[in-house]
Amino acid sequence: MNYLVANWKSNKTLAEVQHWFDELGPIPYDQAQLTVIICPPNPFFLATVDLIERHTIAVKAGVQDVSPYPFGSYTGAVAAEMVSEWARFAIVGHSERRRYFGEDDLTVLAKTERVLEAGMIPIVCVDEPYMGTLLGKLPSDSHERIVVAYEPLAAIGSGDPAEPEHVSNIARRIKELTSQATPVLYGGSTNAANLKDYTDLSLVAGALVGGASLDPAEWKAMITGYSLAD
Ligand code: PGA
Repeated sequence: MNYLVANWKSNKTLAEVQHWFDELGPIPYDQAQLTVIICPPNPFFLATVDLIERHTIAVKAGVQDVSPYPFGSYTGAVAAEMVSEWARFAIVGHSERRRYFGEDDLTVLAKTERVLEAGMIPIVCVDEPYMGTLLGKLPSDSHERIVVAYEPLAAIGSGDPAEPEHVSNIARRIKELTSQATPVLYGGSTNAANLKDYTDLSLVAGALVGGASLDPAEWKAMITGYSLAD
């Protein structure tokens, strides 16, 4: 299975979310080969689930983050189990969580565990400096229940994506650290024009997309292009 994951980060008002779905229109693609996931900001999560249903488009709702804790007295936190009824996927350990919210490997591991306990699939973000230690600490029975996204810091939001050959080498390393069956995604300045450079790589099973996913026309072009590449 291949994956295209939209991470809207802290962008869009509710009206803009509604507009995005109105603009998207029908997208024919092979659901047996590609899973398309939209991760909106948390306040718009259920509205997004509703919009997906109303527009009958074959995309799945996911979340950008979850709490490292279960239900309980954790003010402001969103426990994985609160969203697991509607979300099959949760991004964990995005570098922006590390950079702006002080998350470390232990927090990311706890989040991964909560997501797995809730019956969801964590999309674990890694970069070279910590990927060995982080993935090395994951229990081996989780390796085939996760997706890993390689997101080099310098490529995120910079318009300067990583070299495909380098991405391929890192994907090989990630699979050695986890399992050959673990899907590895690439994230960092992907768009409709360069997506194929990555999805053509045999060890790469898709992309985690920030900026380009905010525009419905660009996103649609990415989905359509992906189907053709396959
Ligand atoms: P970008 O973001 O596509 O805007 O570079 C990727 C990400 O942060 O996941």
